[in-house]
Formats: sequence, C-alpha cells, structure tokens
Amino acid sequence: MPGPSAANPPSPALPPHRIATLQGDASAFARLTYPAYRNMLAPVGIGTVAFGAWIGDAPVGLILACREEGRTTLLSVSVASGWRRCGIGGRLMEMLAAAVPAGERLTATYSSRLPARAAFEGLLRRCGWGAPVLQSMRAAGTPRAVLDWAKAHSPALRVLRSYGLALWRDATPDDRAEVEQLIGSGAIAAEFSPFAMAAQFEHWPDNSWLVRREGKVIGWMFARLELPDTVWYHGAAVRRDVEHLGPLLLMFHRVHQVAAERLGPDSTWRIDSFPRTPAMLAFMRRRVAAFAGFVDELYRVDRTQG
Ligand SMILES: CC(C)(COP(=O)(O)OP(=O)(O)OC[C@H]1O[C@@H](n2cnc3c(N)ncnc32)[C@H](O)[C@@H]1OP(=O)(O)O)[C@@H](O)C(=O)NCCC(=O)NCCS
Repeated sequence: MPGPSAANPPSPALPPHRIATLQGDASAFARLTYPAYRNMLAPVGIGTVAFGAWIGDAPVGLILACREEGRTTLLSVSVASGWRRCGIGGRLMEMLAAAVPAGERLTATYSSRLPARAAFEGLLRRCGWGAPVLQSMRAAGTPRAVLDWAKAHSPALRVLRSYGLALWRDATPDDRAEVEQLIGSGAIAAEFSPFAMAAQFEHWPDNSWLVRREGKVIGWMFARLELPDTVWYHGAAVRRDVEHLGPLLLMFHRVHQVAAERLGPDSTWRIDSFPRTPAMLAFMRRRVAAFAGFVDELYRVDRTQG
C-alpha cells in the first residue's frame, strides 16, 4: 500500500494496522532495519525479539531486539517514512516492553549522529525510558587537519610553552613516583594510570608522552599503533586543576607531529574514550570537533520493567 502523499497527509490518529511477533522468514521487513541486522530476519532466530507492523499487506514498521542473559537490547525501531508520527512507533515500543519479563532491563545505545535522533529521543521519553547517559565519545581524523588547525591557531599553542614533553619510555624513577602520587592523591583517576594502561595494551613507545609543568609531571597521553597507518589515542589524562589550561592540546599537537612524520599526514587517528571531567568533555566537543573528520557521542538509555 503506498504511503499518503503530501496532498494526503497521514491522519494524526493511529491508522488501521496490525502488529504481530515475527517468526520464520521475515525478510519482507529487511528494509526497515540496518544492513548489519538484516540476517536476523531470515529466519528470526532464538534470542531475537521482533515485532512487525502492517497496513494492509504492506510492512510499515519493525522493532528488533536481542535477549541475552536476562537483558534485552533494542537494536532498531523504524516506521516507513509515509507513516511516521501516527503512533506506530509507540505501539511497537509497547509490544517490546510487554515482551520483557518484570524486573529485567531494556537497553538501547545510539549515536548523536543518528539522523532521526530527535524523533528517537522523543519516542524513548514518551515510552517511559530513562534519561540518555553518555557512554563514550569517538573521533577520527588525519594529522594534517590537526597540524593545519594548529598553524592557524598558533597563539593558542604559544601559551603552552611553559610545559615540557618527555617520552613515557624515558620516564625517570622520580617521574614514576610523581605519577604514583598523582593517582594516589586522586588528582588523576586510577583508571587512567599509565602502569595499568601499559599492562592493557602495547603502547607506541615513540609517541606516548608525559607532560610536565614547572618540572613536575602533570599528565600523560598514550598512543597505540595499529599497522599500517592508524593510531589510537588512549588514556589522555591531566591533573584536574590545570586541564583547562591546554596541556591536552599540547600533547595532541605533539603526537600528530610524530604521526605525520612517521606515518604520513594523511594517516588516520582515532579516539574512543569516555571524557570523565567537564574540561575533557569540552576538549572533545570543541577542540577535537574542530579538526576531526568524524566525531560522535554514544548514549545509553535504559528502561526497567515494573
Ligand atoms: C523514531 C521513529 C521509529 C518514531 O516512530 P513513529 O511511528 O513516528 O512514532 P510515534 O508516532 O509513535 O510517536 C511517538 C512519540 O515519539 C515522539 N516523536 C516521534 N517523532 C518525532 C519527531 N519527529 N520529533 C520529535 N518527537 C517525535 C513524540 O513524542 C511522539 O508522540 P506525540 O506524537 O504524541 O508527540 C521514526 O521516526 C523512524 O522510523 N525514524 C527512522 C528510524 C530511526 O532512526 N529509528 C531510531 C533508531 S533505531
């Protein structure tokens, strides 16, 4: 059935429709979800929760979730464009909620770049889900873009001349003791400990740095090289009282100089991290967004079944 045209807009009232659990081959609904999930519909497997909505014979809505270890994760909900804002999305959400046992949690994760973000957030709110909680921020770009930005904003970097950089691999016993002290005193969260990070992943020794101010260690940034040409930046951490003054920017500039020399200016850098402090959040949202080719925020939303 064709959707209503602009000359014949949808009625705000819920149109006559049918909603049912999808079982067996549901590939007629495939265009209503992301390509990565389409094989979950042909056939609908154990652990998949899927409801479809029809108007006449035409599939017009799909909600898809997976159940695992007492937790249900909403993977996608979508209504054909001609039938949005008629209440079908809300009905699909109700069906999913009713399929989740009392006391269990429903969870969804979405990106700030979701084209229908406002509609999806409105739908979640309307259906009694909790407030979105920021889980992580991701960014990617090239060293060239960072270095071009730095050239155009050189005064911002000049202010940072009072800071010094040293490679982590050259850290002295005194530096290490200062790092321990920063973590022990809570000035930098223990999860960012370079000792813990060094145990978690193999860092790039030529591009993992300590930053000093007036001779004292105040932070560090660890890079991981993913051959042939991608660098991940993990665990940038700076003493809270100075983080807004720019040492993160200084380290960021230096790591990209090294990456441009070693891997080329058009190599790739990536960040996938959780900015724990307001200054780090601002650094990602304002600074990194200015020179990243891609940046987004991942949010998680929960609904606990009554
Ligand atoms: C999100 C989506 C499924 C909503 O479906 P829908 O059938 O239009 O939703 P409903 O008509 O049931 O709307 C229920 C509530 O959601 C909110 N909502 C829906 N569309 C909205 C919009 N465009 N802007 C703001 N709020 C919106 C409203 O609170 C609405 O209630 P109201 O109309 O009484 O104000 C639909 O917009 C869609 O398919 N988007 C594209 C796919 C997508 O991005 N899905 C989400 C991630 S998987």
